[in-house]
Amino acid sequence: MQADRHSGRTVIVTGAASGIGRGVALRFGEEGANVVVADVTREPKRGERYDTDVTTPTDELITAETPGDAIYVETDVSDPESVAAMVETTVDTYGGIDVVVNNAGIYVPGGAREISVETWNDVTGVDLDGTFYCAKFAIPHLVESEGSIINVGSVNASEGGGGPPYAASKAGVVNLTRDLATELGAENVRVNCINPGFIETPIQDYLTEEDVEKMTHQTLLPRFGLPRDVGDAAVFLASDEASFVTGEQLHVDGGWTAHRL
Ligand code: NAI
Repeated sequence: MQADRHSGRTVIVTGAASGIGRGVALRFGEEGANVVVADVTREPKRGERYDTDVTTPTDELITAETPGDAIYVETDVSDPESVAAMVETTVDTYGGIDVVVNNAGIYVPGGAREISVETWNDVTGVDLDGTFYCAKFAIPHLVESEGSIINVGSVNASEGGGGPPYAASKAGVVNLTRDLATELGAENVRVNCINPGFIETPIQDYLTEEDVEKMTHQTLLPRFGLPRDVGDAAVFLASDEASFVTGEQLHVDGGWTAHRL
């Protein structure tokens, strides 16, 4: 495995305090990147089932245990002013931006009749609007570096069952990926999307043991994925090895979408 594909590159990972974003951020740290942990909180989430004992902030872990560097920048991706300030801090600190991983996301269970309009706005505000804001404010710097954007969708982007705001946002993220790729291709900025299946993170606290068994059974490789599995895909998509890949969605789902059992 190459371990220096991103040496000296600057990578923003939103929602990197916990879960998948933390796994992605660590993988970029291992590849020698300067990582910006852009999250509403620095404190890693502790789940009831996964990441039950995580305490070290992601930026601290990267700095201590990888060849990369890292800073935490308090960011609410649903607030355009906060995103613009985070982009500015990144450029002031590291001199530019090479990669943006739009990972921050929230999930609120419930169908159209249960959830409030406020919940709809909250979820779409983070999961879809936040993805757009981070891309929008980073684009001038990505054009300069001929960098890339990686959005995090979901298997719920192409199937129902995730609840209205989540499913709609994730489908939006996939087509936003294609649209940004169309706009930015001529300037050598690549835009891709990773659609994770079920991954071991604190977001899964809402699942019952029965749900976990069912989801595992429906995954062709019968396990939940690890944040690292998504991180491996992200370092590939951001690397020169993927230099002819854009507008693409890569499922990291253990075969969830290949075949429903
Ligand atoms: P998580 O709940 O473990 O972590 C989410 C992180 O995002 C947290 O650190 C949280 O503080 C941060 N965050 C929340 N709102 C934010 C905001 N407004 N601004 C900045 N940061 C914010 O969730 P997980 O599982 O790591 O999910 C990450 C992404 O992967 C999300 O977009 C989620 O929809 C997606 N995903 C997760 C799957 C899974 O099985 N875990 C499956 C498919 C997609």
